[in-house]
Amino acid sequence: MSSALSLKKVTPENVKAACALRIRPEQEKVVAPVVMSLAEAYASPETAWPRVVFDGAELVGFVMGGFEPDCPVDAFRCGIWRLNIAAGHQGKGYGRFAVEAVCAEARRRGQRRVTVMWLPHEHGPEEFYLRLGFRPTGETMGGQVIGELWLS
Ligand SMILES: CC(C)(COP(=O)(O)OP(=O)(O)OC[C@H]1O[C@@H](n2cnc3c(N)ncnc32)[C@H](O)[C@@H]1OP(=O)(O)O)[C@@H](O)C(=O)NCCC(=O)NCCS
Repeated sequence: MSSALSLKKVTPENVKAACALRIRPEQEKVVAPVVMSLAEAYASPETAWPRVVFDGAELVGFVMGGFEPDCPVDAFRCGIWRLNIAAGHQGKGYGRFAVEAVCAEARRRGQRRVTVMWLPHEHGPEEFYLRLGFRPTGETMGGQVIGELWLS
């Protein structure tokens, strides 16, 4: 993994590149496109935490955390809402970097547990999240597995 990795807010300078980010075609069923996530972030500015991942000057990924500690739905209190790593840049540690950034933000907010939901799918991210230490809670929502990670 490159040492030039950084996480940035979405700005007028990088928003077009963020919207142009594409995952692999066979993965498109498992996560919303960035443009949809940014529209949702616009509608939920208090809870959505959208960020872009750069390697040097190149935008390689998008991640959106969600933080709503008082939400009645447990899976929406502190978690990863979206994660998209560009097709040509997968398998280089950028996804791990993005998840760790959400975890760091969660810790900063005093949280100890991060959740994520994934669709069981042959091209889905289940193995990735398991590799990073997430474990299924045993619950599902809308056909998606709910995973949790306790922060140390
Ligand atoms: C899933 C996704 C985010 C992973 O990002 P990535 O940058 O390719 O993953 P990383 O390179 O950071 O991988 C981290 C670890 O997970 C492992 N991993 C990643 N994808 C894996 C897979 N499909 N199967 C098994 N292991 C996998 C890597 O081998 C690596 O392990 P290591 O650190 O021990 O070497 C990326 O493939 C993606 O954007 N997929 C399409 C969209 C998606 O599914 N988003 C999640 C929606 S909830």
